[in-house]
Amino acid sequence: MSKVVIVDTNPYEGQKPGTSGLRKKVKVFLQENYTENFIQSILDANKEAIEGSTLVVGGDGRYLVKEVVEKIIKISAANGVAKLLVGQDGILSTPAVSCIIRKYKTLGGIVLTASHNPGGINNDFGIKFNCSNGGPAPDHMTNDIYKLTTEIKWYKIVPDLNCSIDKIGVQTFKVEDREFTVEIVDSVNDYVTYMKEIFDFPKIKELIQGTEQRKPFNVLIDSMNGVTGPYVRRIFLDELGASEKNVRRIVPLDDFGGAHPDPNLTYAADLVNTVKGGDYDFGAAFDGDGDRNMIIGRGAFFVTPSDSLAVLANNLDSIPYFKRTGVRGYARSMPTAAAVDRVAVANGKEMFEVPTGWKYFGNLMDAGRLSLCGEESFGTGSDHVREKDGLWAALAWLSVIAATGKSVEDILKAHWAQFGRNYFTRYDYEECASDPCNEMMTELEKTITEPGFVGSSHASGDKTYIVKVADNFSYMDPIDKSVAMKQGLRIIFEDGSRIVMRLSGTGSSGATVRLYIDSYEASNVLGDAQVMLKPLIDVALKISKLPSYTGRDAPTVIT
Ligand code: G6P
Ligand code: ZN
Repeated sequence: MSKVVIVDTNPYEGQKPGTSGLRKKVKVFLQENYTENFIQSILDANKEAIEGSTLVVGGDGRYLVKEVVEKIIKISAANGVAKLLVGQDGILSTPAVSCIIRKYKTLGGIVLTASHNPGGINNDFGIKFNCSNGGPAPDHMTNDIYKLTTEIKWYKIVPDLNCSIDKIGVQTFKVEDREFTVEIVDSVNDYVTYMKEIFDFPKIKELIQGTEQRKPFNVLIDSMNGVTGPYVRRIFLDELGASEKNVRRIVPLDDFGGAHPDPNLTYAADLVNTVKGGDYDFGAAFDGDGDRNMIIGRGAFFVTPSDSLAVLANNLDSIPYFKRTGVRGYARSMPTAAAVDRVAVANGKEMFEVPTGWKYFGNLMDAGRLSLCGEESFGTGSDHVREKDGLWAALAWLSVIAATGKSVEDILKAHWAQFGRNYFTRYDYEECASDPCNEMMTELEKTITEPGFVGSSHASGDKTYIVKVADNFSYMDPIDKSVAMKQGLRIIFEDGSRIVMRLSGTGSSGATVRLYIDSYEASNVLGDAQVMLKPLIDVALKISKLPSYTGRDAPTVIT
């Protein structure tokens, strides 16, 4: 029998969860009781429900995951949790956690990841709580967690409960007079079973393997040394008949092999160059925890996440899951280009615009009003789980390709011909000094909300834009009526073009400024986004005075 020990502790400042959980450098989490405090606060935020509950625990395999899983086991045991479902070796992708929470109807889950941020002892770690619907905790709950971290005086732990997490199976422990169970689960089984229900695997397999009439469709799937490796192995190699040359970096490494596991044109340049130089028809990459995706076609033809969402919205009938459930509404985050809005109009579907952060989609899905959603930040997903889902997005694209028989590029061109094109780009200025960035945002908000700004005109080159709407975006959730304020500054011009600026909520140090530009063209659809959007970018830099506040004359990442 193991005993519960109560350990005195003091609050740490700054344990406020950001867009997606608490993210800090590994060294911050290594401070005495730092991690314990946060775990205890997560459990306490669940109040009485924690007694006798089941929770899912897993992470993306980065440095510290295993140690923190062990702490969670000991602290959960002490706090009356009845059972934990833990991924083998602590490995579960973020969408897999969501899937398992929903499948086994648990109270929630704890996800150990800093998503797309680099890993290793000198880099980032993160802890996030997901609720019983499988989605990230909503604002009111993360606020509760934060408040608890500022008041914490002790945490409960069972120090001598030793549970190994490397073998699948059930282990039971006696903690004082209670029984406590840890089930180590296969990291991929439940998720893969679910994907096979959602998609037509034989059809995708036929695409990948080819037929007598059609040569194999040559894919290159890149896990960037993140958590999706074992999922890609099982799905693409074991189920879909792809070969080793169709996959890369599929062994999860605790520092992602030094890669920055963010699937975009900058950090997945390696994949882009390989696809460009090789005989590949399709490339996909996923981030550290497996919820983000990037899709490219032959010759590395890039699909913006905003276009990806719109194309999938218009082709959901290629996916068996949606034939069964029907298609409810679509949604995107505010900075995401409005391409999907045009599909919604054409298909007579409800359309939602929410703040940045996947958690804002959950209520709409739970209320049965939302089937498909996405974000410009390389997130795409549906109501099959309550997280975005990188592998799901790749399988969705392969379903559309199998159904239409078209290449990625031809699918996009046909889409633009039908709906027009929302040109989109995002400029990131990473790791800037925080104070000047905050000041820039405050000043910009003042400027754009001053009387006379609406109606003012802004010229660059031969283009002139007249301001129609300018505000700091706020959102009222249509289901629970909760309000999220100050979600990003936006300037909307009379021709529908938009400038959006916000500070990232996922960084672990300094400030990252994101500038998003979106402009619609009905017929001039084959231009280069950087050229087409240059005048608007110049206007944005001028109005915001970004170069002088940040001292930067160029972004660190352009998407
Ligand atoms: C995470 C969330 C996304 C969100 C993104 C925004 O990936 O899961 O839903 O879009 O962060 O990141 P940012 O750095 O722009 O706040
Ligand atoms: Zn992620």
